[in-house]
Amino acid sequence: MNLSDAINAVNRVRDIINSHNTWRRRETINLIPSENVMSPLAEYFYINDMMGRYAEGTIGNRYYQGVKYVDEMEAYLVDLMSKLFHASYVDVRPISGTVANMAAYLTLAKGGKIAAVPRQCGGHISHDEVGAPGALGLKVIHLPCDEENFSINVDLAAKVIREEKPQLVILGASLYLFPHPVKELAQVAHENGAYLMHDSAHVLGLIAGGQFPNSLNEGADLMTSSTHKTFPGPQGGVIFTNNESIFKNIQRSVFPQLTSNYHLHRYASTAITAIEMMAFGEAYAYQIRLNARKLAEELSKYGIPVVAEARGFTETHQVVFDASKFGGGAKVAQLLEDGGIIVNKNMLPWDRSAVKPSGIRMGVQEMTRVGMGTQEMAEIASFMKAMLIDGKEPSTIRDKVKEFKAQYTEVKYGFKLSDVGIKCDCLPLNY
Ligand SMILES: Cc1ncc(COP(=O)(O)O)c(C=O)c1O
Repeated sequence: MNLSDAINAVNRVRDIINSHNTWRRRETINLIPSENVMSPLAEYFYINDMMGRYAEGTIGNRYYQGVKYVDEMEAYLVDLMSKLFHASYVDVRPISGTVANMAAYLTLAKGGKIAAVPRQCGGHISHDEVGAPGALGLKVIHLPCDEENFSINVDLAAKVIREEKPQLVILGASLYLFPHPVKELAQVAHENGAYLMHDSAHVLGLIAGGQFPNSLNEGADLMTSSTHKTFPGPQGGVIFTNNESIFKNIQRSVFPQLTSNYHLHRYASTAITAIEMMAFGEAYAYQIRLNARKLAEELSKYGIPVVAEARGFTETHQVVFDASKFGGGAKVAQLLEDGGIIVNKNMLPWDRSAVKPSGIRMGVQEMTRVGMGTQEMAEIASFMKAMLIDGKEPSTIRDKVKEFKAQYTEVKYGFKLSDVGIKCDCLPLNY
């Protein structure tokens, strides 16, 4: 490639990224519940030399040289996460929630059987036989869903555990409106020789802010998570436990079995996010709960069939509605995206096909993080009503959404560079 072609190619990359940044950060309302934005300070520390280094092994016991500051950074991050989540042992090396789950499977159920929440009841693909457990040769049995309450049926689940005798029971979900019965099922699991793990990926930020139960306090042997959903850090994974012997085996599963590099550069930003959650997490998580409830109430008022009304709609960041009468989840998700509102299509407990999900799943964590409150939730609901109930063309709503979103350009509940005396106009994202 000659130099001029190479420069053109580079410009193409720049254009794509600039377009994406502007569209997703400035022009649209993001309601995808598994995403978030880091604070400017966390973004500032995301680019560092550790992004190109290796540190196979554990703190103080590495297979690589040149890692004295990696050791210090990882140890400090472990200390912060351990304090924030009241866990004796933390492994921050898994590079994603899925890898954290795989480490749990290798440690607690190798080659055996696990019991998990089925996908139409909110379970994640990394709990499903078509995903990681199947790849590791595990058999997956399902915990019966309580469709009405958007949870797990405790009595039927206990029966399944007693009869099937899985090695590991997994609670926690991707569509997650109310806490799962960890306490009840941990007892049943333990009586039947099984471990119980809670996948906290979606609710980690709510746990940090004291707005969702910490499953380790309720009898879970292990808590796995991503670090980038309601916990607004960089993409990554983490595992918590209070059991030393489980932890030692987890460490061996993470390395050498599942990873070699741990994407070390994310440690600094994860640490900044943990500090922010210690300082602002309670207010952030509290506002998320208020906002989710408000969004659900407003949508419901307009005749949009938000699920779980009888239980108060939601106790997390998520709001879910049945989009069947508007043409189904896929159609509605595209229509809303055309109008500048980004949501997920999702299976509902009564769906039988993953290809044609009837639900829409939303989360308010990112919009809460950029300073939106209950009034703004009402505004978002009215944009959605205009498209879904009044039949307005999405193209006529898009500019209104853009104008509205332009008012929310700063991350709340996090640090700016100036808060710690860093002077630099160097962040490409600038919210
Ligand atoms: C409940 C649950 N667990 C695990 C994951 C996977 O996390 P990651 O994308 O970090 O691998 C997700 C992703 O959305 C999830 O919802």
